Amino acid sequence: MTGRARPSFQCQACGALAPKWAGQCGDCGAWNTLTESAAPLLVDGRARGLGYSGETTPVVGLAEVEVRDEVRTSSGIGELDRVLGGGLVKGAVVLLGGDPGIGKSTLLLQSLAVGRETRGLYVSGEESAQQVALRAHRLGSVGQDLRLLTETRVERVLEAAENEAPRVLVIDSIQTLYSESLAGAPGTVSQLRESASQLVRYAKRTGTTVFLVGHVTKEGILAGPRVLEHMVDTVLYFEGDEGSRYRIVRAVKNRYGAVHELGVFAMTESGLREVPNPSSIFLQRHAQGVPGSAVMVTREGTRPLLIEVQALLDESHLANPRRVAVGLDPNRLAMLLAVLHRHAGVVSYDQDVFVNIVGGVRVNETGADLAVALAVVSSLRNRPLPEGTVVFGEIGLSGEVRPVPHGPERLREAVKHGFGRALIPRANAPRGAVKGLEVTAIERVAEALAASG
Ligand code: TYD
Ligand code: MG
Repeated sequence: MTGRARPSFQCQACGALAPKWAGQCGDCGAWNTLTESAAPLLVDGRARGLGYSGETTPVVGLAEVEVRDEVRTSSGIGELDRVLGGGLVKGAVVLLGGDPGIGKSTLLLQSLAVGRETRGLYVSGEESAQQVALRAHRLGSVGQDLRLLTETRVERVLEAAENEAPRVLVIDSIQTLYSESLAGAPGTVSQLRESASQLVRYAKRTGTTVFLVGHVTKEGILAGPRVLEHMVDTVLYFEGDEGSRYRIVRAVKNRYGAVHELGVFAMTESGLREVPNPSSIFLQRHAQGVPGSAVMVTREGTRPLLIEVQALLDESHLANPRRVAVGLDPNRLAMLLAVLHRHAGVVSYDQDVFVNIVGGVRVNETGADLAVALAVVSSLRNRPLPEGTVVFGEIGLSGEVRPVPHGPERLREAVKHGFGRALIPRANAPRGAVKGLEVTAIERVAEALAASG
């Protein structure tokens, strides 16, 4: 039995179907995302676009499955290889998301251009061949084996890919593709899902590495996010500050490697340049200590990174004082303010609180807790932290300071960059003395505040 064409509504955020329009999606809870979709509702259970081919495969014992090592080739860009978990994997589908203008097209074009033996096919649905060529020339190197197609019909893209048989296929962007077999404009969830599933099947069948460029909506999520993220093997996000030339590529899902690995780049006149030692580029060096600033050593992926946390507290005249967190989870900030109040007597309910991680970096680890707390208190007291201090540590709800992984490595990094003091969890304190570093080990938030002046 196949589907009947009757009006249905589909959530543009998660792809859930609903028989009636509603203001909120019942599945993912997003508001105003349901739109009428012309896609027929399939009733035979073989949902379209999930990548099922309809062929049957036998059940096998797990032990009988032949295990082969993933064959990896370099993308030509070391930092990109790093986030991918060591290079390109045959048949892998990688989604690269990010704000417009952040450098997605540049990165992929550059990778195809410099990758010596990558036979690449670059499909652009947004820019003309002229524009892409112009950019490639600006980047300096145009690989002889780099082929270009401007097309938005997925069937035509696949036809070209069959003929060209590239090793790497780049789709820029997945939101511009549409399939002839479906009604509905490009960019809708059903179109995204159909186009992506055709490309995923192609990748698996031919062993081609496929990059899908995905746009991020104003709310900061990939349009049609859940749908695409489930279908691909790897999800990379491009992050960075408008004002800064530094860009970070972060893996948030990777079937072929570790997540939370970072690749760091700087945008230059001639494209993206790798930053192989990014440890202190996000650090603002102040001639003198300033109130509301704390330097922390975070560890993203396999590398330690020194970053500055800034806080500003200002008397509020609002009934609900503002709590603004940039580069960090606002809920975490609210929690830290509550802990500071209950366990250290720091009153901030009459203050607007702004916290910012310098350089447009996002910090997801709890090791930033102590730095945030100290920056907040430093701003409130209008007193800088002792000069040359780094901090890290997680803060618990009962006011305890908990250890974080890789303590020794973080301390070594701080020493390397000339920091002479460290305020860290007791359990992270090194056994012996560390040359050039005065370590203050603490167990409770209140102790940390006392120790930081
Ligand atoms: P782009 O790759 O087009 O971004 P996306 O595909 O994510 O939308 O990046 C474009 C931006 O990068 C644009 O604002 C100009 C800048 N840029 C440079 O500074 N140097 C360069 O060599 C290139 C190619 C772009
Ligand atoms: Mg682009």
